[in-house]
Amino acid sequence: ALVVRRRMLSAGRWARAAEIVAELEEQCATPTTRLLQMAEAMTVEMHAGLASDGGSKLKMLISYVDNLPTGHEKGLFYALDLGGTNFRVLRVQLGGKDGRVVKQEAEEVSIPPQLMVGSSDDLFDFIAAELAKFVASEGEDFHLPAGRQRELGFTFSFPVQQSSIASGTLVKWTKGFSITGTVGEDVVAELTRAMERQGLDMRVVALVNDTIGTLAGGIYYDKDVVAAVILGTGTNAAYIERAHAIPKWHGLLPKSGEMVINMEWGNFRSSHLPMTEYDQALDLDSLNPGEQIFEKLISGMYLGDILRRVLLKLAEEAALFGDVVPPKLKEPFILRTPNMSAMHHDKSSDLRLVGSKLKEILGIQNTTLKTRKLIVNLCDIIAKRGARLAAAGIVGILKKQGRDTLHDGSSKPRTVIAMDGGLFEHYTIFSKCLESTLTELLGEEVAATLFIEHANDGSGIGAALLAASHSQYLEVEES
Ligand code: GLC
Repeated sequence: ALVVRRRMLSAGRWARAAEIVAELEEQCATPTTRLLQMAEAMTVEMHAGLASDGGSKLKMLISYVDNLPTGHEKGLFYALDLGGTNFRVLRVQLGGKDGRVVKQEAEEVSIPPQLMVGSSDDLFDFIAAELAKFVASEGEDFHLPAGRQRELGFTFSFPVQQSSIASGTLVKWTKGFSITGTVGEDVVAELTRAMERQGLDMRVVALVNDTIGTLAGGIYYDKDVVAAVILGTGTNAAYIERAHAIPKWHGLLPKSGEMVINMEWGNFRSSHLPMTEYDQALDLDSLNPGEQIFEKLISGMYLGDILRRVLLKLAEEAALFGDVVPPKLKEPFILRTPNMSAMHHDKSSDLRLVGSKLKEILGIQNTTLKTRKLIVNLCDIIAKRGARLAAAGIVGILKKQGRDTLHDGSSKPRTVIAMDGGLFEHYTIFSKCLESTLTELLGEEVAATLFIEHANDGSGIGAALLAASHSQYLEVEES
């Protein structure tokens, strides 16, 4: 009788587990029609954000980049890229039209976690010190003409309200950064002061978002790039807009007639977004509740934690891991997206890797194959929702640019999107799903003219290129 009762109990648990999974699947559903509505809503919000400051959840920030790299950029330039769990420094010797990138060196440094939630000076001092070390290691392959100051393109991957190409104030922190005393401050001034404290003689000549850097880096190699998307710790996009389609721009009309816009699409929100109880709880527990909702459904910082929350519910309500709820499952952000991705890509027939990840990260021993299969299914639901939403966002941009349909008579244009970020680069199921969703939404014919180009560290090179085209010595050079 005892055995029978156990079996019934276990059947009851599985029934509850199945219910929870089915509910998640239903709430995460992104049918084509819904994604198309979302793309449309994105376009509408883009218009609203361009019309006036505060006109939309989409900030549609003006980048002051109205001229993109041409390939003629020349000289030695530095770039610094701050925005995720690592920051990068880079130097590049640009050879002009024929030389292109003559030589390039980069270094990556991880940011001590306590600095991400400390004071502004501590963060900038740390960065400036690393930069100073890097500059000191400059070899003879790099050449700075006598009497010149070194120049830097600063990629700062947070929303910044710019007042020129080399100045701007931080609107808010995102992606787990929460540093006191920076919001409302000019981040170039902050970095400059920190460099002075280090005795580093260097001038910031371009301040750019990573999306803008990626766009600039992308177009240097492929002139058909029209937008850039980041899918990494956070997510965002930038694209080239016609200057006269930006009502809130009161400056001079740029010669090119164009202006690059940093959408800050991570903050997009719409009733069409598929939100679950897990997303709501994640948002409430986050450092920025109510903000960056699109980002919290899509990006690398959050996917793993959504999965953790579902697993916790399954442990609590369906005893998925036995009678005791594994305590580690209650620790926020313990399950990171790269681990989720590793489990999701496990090709072994007994899902061995899923088992060992559960053990290693969550201290969960001896799972059954059935349980491991269920977990892979959860990864699939969560990752594919994110990828499909990102695809809908891209279609929103293409709609705004009139590139979501083929125009009669004209030859088929190439539309290229420069893409960067670890999520896209390493989470193959995610990127494949994004690409197939684009075809689903645009149709085969249009999709055949669309190319997603992965620009590895595009934003670093892009910032250096923009530093080159905004160099204080440019006029000397040209005359
Ligand atoms: C966050 C930032 C945004 C950045 C994106 C990708 O959304 O707010 O500025 O571009 O992450 O790094």
